[in-house]
Amino acid sequence: MSERIDLAALPHDFLWGTATAAYQIEGAVAEDGRSPSIWDTFSHTPGKTANGDNGDVACDHYHRWREDIGLMRQLGVNGYRLSVAWPRVIPGGTGPVNPKGLAFYDELVDALLEAGITPSVTLYHWDLPQALQDRGGWPERDTALALAEYASAVAARLGDRVKLWTTLNEPSCSAWIGHLEGTMAPGWTDLTAAVRASYHLLLGHGLAAQAIRAAAPDAQVGIVNNLSTVYAATGRPEDRAAARRHDGHVNRWWLDPVHGRGFPADMREVYGVELPERAGDLETIATPLDWLGLNYYFPAYVADDPDGPAPHVRSVRREGVVRTGMDWEIDASGIETLLLRLTEEYGARRLYVTENGSAFPDVVRPDGSVEDPERQDYLERHLAACASAVRKGAPLAGYFAWSLLDNFEWAYGYDKRFGLVHVDYRTQVRTIKGSGRRYADIVRVHRGQGRRAA
Ligand code: IFM
Repeated sequence: MSERIDLAALPHDFLWGTATAAYQIEGAVAEDGRSPSIWDTFSHTPGKTANGDNGDVACDHYHRWREDIGLMRQLGVNGYRLSVAWPRVIPGGTGPVNPKGLAFYDELVDALLEAGITPSVTLYHWDLPQALQDRGGWPERDTALALAEYASAVAARLGDRVKLWTTLNEPSCSAWIGHLEGTMAPGWTDLTAAVRASYHLLLGHGLAAQAIRAAAPDAQVGIVNNLSTVYAATGRPEDRAAARRHDGHVNRWWLDPVHGRGFPADMREVYGVELPERAGDLETIATPLDWLGLNYYFPAYVADDPDGPAPHVRSVRREGVVRTGMDWEIDASGIETLLLRLTEEYGARRLYVTENGSAFPDVVRPDGSVEDPERQDYLERHLAACASAVRKGAPLAGYFAWSLLDNFEWAYGYDKRFGLVHVDYRTQVRTIKGSGRRYADIVRVHRGQGRRAA
């Protein structure tokens, strides 16, 4: 089915982009002075990723980035959200800067600008230098200070050309999945460590935001959270209370402190872990931002789980609903709800959808083409919901499809394909999928032929 998108609702200077992350696409993990990250360690640990996949080669973007910018040109996008690999830039986590690491991003940024594509740079998309993990990682305060040191080095080098900066991508995944659920690096299952990590991630965010601005005064700084709409699986009071806790866990814990509201009291009680607070931290965490990034994929339906680990909530899988290849329920209305929540409840003045997309098992046809009507439908529905949110007042300034390329989907390895562009990992041949062609059409209609429906 083809969804009508009210493109006239979107501002004329809307950023149409695609997004990627360093460890998921770059490969070249031991080149030009890059040191191992926690994801190198994790993915090389037997049993941690599907098929034992790792990011050693990934999409070989480190060598093929010119071709990848060519793909962006074919898509007609005017934005690209990339992440910088901390272990390329400061291999020891702190200390000497590796000139070759910075040079890679320097050249990439120049080429993007030459192609008329606005770069949006994320500093931390989960690839903590292993050297810092060896000193305790995110549960330790020094890691927050190290993030600011690294932010300063990158902003000093790229800040004359890069204006859009993200401190952290999806810190809830780093803290909760990495330290509580254990299915992402560093693979811990320790509530105290997870809560401490969450605190230091947000402290690092605030310090990094200040460091970016000190190095690049006209930088526009934001943070990217993956948020969910949360529903109780039943009308039982216990399940409603569970939904409130889940909302606290995945949404409010990450939004309230950066908006100067402190850490939610109800969740502090649920976790029962003392925060490593020092005077002034809350002000640092609440350093004013220029924009907020929303990564949206799926809604959450939850029930009470008194015997489970904090926050004592379990997900409920609903039957009879449409799902992606990740088994994630598809509900485009969630992106609209969340954009409006950020606007109304948190007073956002500028928003970007920094990620949104779907994995499906693509098939390359004998003629080499890849048709993916389900991904196209997902894209159209979510763009239509974004446009509707704008009509209702959400200050949405751009949309970055996840992802430009099929890539290393963390613990799921290469089995899950999110790209608008198919990657044959054997040959590294890239093929724009049907969804990519449709995205190009939508962008063309909005950018080229006035603001109307597509
Ligand atoms: O691939 C990830 C990305 O790194 C962070 N956001 C969610 C995507 C899909 O799972």
